[in-house]
Amino acid sequence: MSTTQRDHLIGLLLGAEEDWPSAFEALARKLGVLHTADGAQHRIETERVSIEPFNLRDKPRQDLCIDRLAYWYYHPREWLKKAALMDDVYLLNSPFTFQSMEKHSAYCAMLRLGLNVPNTVLVPYKHPVDNARWAYTSAKYNQQFDLDQIAGDMGYPLFMKPFDGGGWRGVSRVRNSDELHKAYDESGEMLMHLQESIDFDVFARALTIGPESMVMKFRPDEPMHDRYEVSHDFLSEKAGKEAIAISQTVNAFFRWEFNSCEMLVKDDVLYPIDYANACPDVAVTSLHYYFPWAMKSLLKWSAFCVVTDRKAKTQVDTDPWFAVADNADLDYDAKILAYQGLADQHFDKDRYLEFCATTLPNIDEMVYDYIVSPEFRSMLTSTIQQTYPRHEWERFEGHFGGLLTMWADDNAQLAGNA
Ligand SMILES: Nc1ncnc2c1ncn2[C@@H]1O[C@H](COP(=O)(O)OP(=O)(O)OP(=O)(O)O)[C@@H](O)[C@H]1O
Ligand SMILES: [Mg+2]
Repeated sequence: MSTTQRDHLIGLLLGAEEDWPSAFEALARKLGVLHTADGAQHRIETERVSIEPFNLRDKPRQDLCIDRLAYWYYHPREWLKKAALMDDVYLLNSPFTFQSMEKHSAYCAMLRLGLNVPNTVLVPYKHPVDNARWAYTSAKYNQQFDLDQIAGDMGYPLFMKPFDGGGWRGVSRVRNSDELHKAYDESGEMLMHLQESIDFDVFARALTIGPESMVMKFRPDEPMHDRYEVSHDFLSEKAGKEAIAISQTVNAFFRWEFNSCEMLVKDDVLYPIDYANACPDVAVTSLHYYFPWAMKSLLKWSAFCVVTDRKAKTQVDTDPWFAVADNADLDYDAKILAYQGLADQHFDKDRYLEFCATTLPNIDEMVYDYIVSPEFRSMLTSTIQQTYPRHEWERFEGHFGGLLTMWADDNAQLAGNA
């Protein structure tokens, strides 16, 4: 009997990043031949996707595409849509979910699910919308409103930030009426939320890839390379589980595969504030200690998707989620538990874990051996040299080298068995 052999191509649609793609490509090369329970053999290859004219009837060669570009570059975005609709290419993330990628939809959906989204008001535009019909429409329908009254009712301090924000664009913390008006005047053509400020004890930021989440302690006021603190027990056990459930709920609900979720924690209550990111930061210079986990998870999840022919659905199915949300017999904790169950189902978690155990049995050792290899170290060095000015190279070699050595020490039991 001949053995079935299948090749799977993973496309990387990239912008300016070099660090994690090189790590991902190196690890994918080391996977070798994968064996599944049915006796088939699988090989995974990666290829960077180039941008060129395409006929809508062309057949893409990729089985899966990890997209880091389409959130701002529309030609490849349309290629992704075609590939998803016509050719069943599996996408991390799908542009069909991008319309929900603004904070606003995500806030609304999570509010309906009963999560503790801070009190939030959407304020009309400060500046007229660029449309010939605006003057008439506005004169006839725009209600006068008293911004001070809204802010006063919500209570200072408040955050004013764009409804579709990202990268701190247009975010202000306002402490009084003067700051409020200044922030609103400066918002110009941006559409703004006014949001209750949570005086948090700790900031948790979770990166989620498929059914894998890493909840990390985040310090938003530090420079990028110091924002993630290496800290293992900074949340209570209950809050830790809840942070994972919330992150995976957001992703499973919107069909996002690769996303980060920010939660403010005060007195063990979790307030999700930001969880819609088409292109979460996975730079080695941000994630450092957590970078090996991110690469391993991305590889495991994409291997699972291509090898098991996981089918991507382009549209959100809100029904099962709202059935839980609207069930008056369930309290908050029971709903969180039910959402975790729905998320596990969505990501096919049991099958995924079984796949990792049987088809990727040596992946931990493989990732360990790569992270301690000269190949990884030279990628780190070249990333440092591209990212920072020359006089800081030595300091950052020490900083990131130290954090990754710490990771290697913490995972030393995995050494050398690959
Ligand atoms: N309701 C809030 N309470 C307390 N702090 C807040 C609140 N909203 C925002 N912040 C602070 O402002 C920062 C930026 O806000 P937010 O994450 O919503 O914007 P962003 O543009 O998506 O930023 P980023 O891309 O860095 O995540 C947060 O990291 C947090 O420190
Ligand atoms: Mg944020």
